[in-house]
Amino acid sequence: MTLPSDAFRHVAARPHEPLRTFHPRRTVLGRDREDALERLWPRWGFSVHDDELGSAPLTPAGLLDTPTLFGRSAPLVLEIGSGMGETTAAMAAADPGRDYLAVEAHLPGIANLLLLVERAGLANVRVAHGDALDLVRRLLPADGLDAVHVFFPDPWPKARHHKRRIIQPSHVALLRSRLRVGGTLHCATDWLEYAESMRDVLDADPGLAGPVELVARPAHRPVTKFEQRGIDLGHEVHDLVVRRAR
Ligand SMILES: C[S@@+](CC[C@H](N)C(=O)[O-])C[C@H]1O[C@@H](n2cnc3c(N)ncnc32)[C@H](O)[C@@H]1O
Repeated sequence: MTLPSDAFRHVAARPHEPLRTFHPRRTVLGRDREDALERLWPRWGFSVHDDELGSAPLTPAGLLDTPTLFGRSAPLVLEIGSGMGETTAAMAAADPGRDYLAVEAHLPGIANLLLLVERAGLANVRVAHGDALDLVRRLLPADGLDAVHVFFPDPWPKARHHKRRIIQPSHVALLRSRLRVGGTLHCATDWLEYAESMRDVLDADPGLAGPVELVARPAHRPVTKFEQRGIDLGHEVHDLVVRRAR
């Protein structure tokens, strides 16, 4: 089997591709994670991009066939940038009535999440490798998601990099179009300036119900390792939860 690390290079390295919201990183997989990918990827993983790894099951219209992917029809949560996957695994375990689709560009995180899913015996998690924006644009139908989670996205603090932020007007309009009316977009960040920018972007979206506020972490969102690092550095964490209004 060709390991998905090949696909990661494919995702990250093309110079003519659109600006990515993630940092290209060298993929170093330890033995456990290589093994996890070999064993578990064929069961629970798919690539966002057409390649030799095998892609997702599709409907005749060419969209993601989630009932086939999960083996049932249940409300669907999309987690963008799941990192090492601890939050996805914990939230999915506490919420067995919904299905969780995690999408992550960084392969070691995917392998780690697959291991967590196996250890916890979770039936309601699937993992996509690649750019979440490509997944949402090409494969997800309108009005299909119950929730979108964007936890601690790369803050791109320099002004000249703000165009790489995932929470910006065009991306938010795209995500909102894939939510059902009443579905939620939940963002969290430990970067105050990004939190304020998120609030302004979400407030300005005509299809989301405002006013949007910066709130404390809701109890159902566990603290991630990444978040803990920020807290240890003295960063304040803000959550923003907003519903699709129409
Ligand atoms: C700062 S980390 C946070 C990870 C995790 N949510 C947490 O709280 O620990 C941001 C993650 O988002 C991923 N990411 C950023 N943009 C992405 C995109 N467009 N598609 C897929 N993954 C993305 C990065 O690879 C990175 O792993």
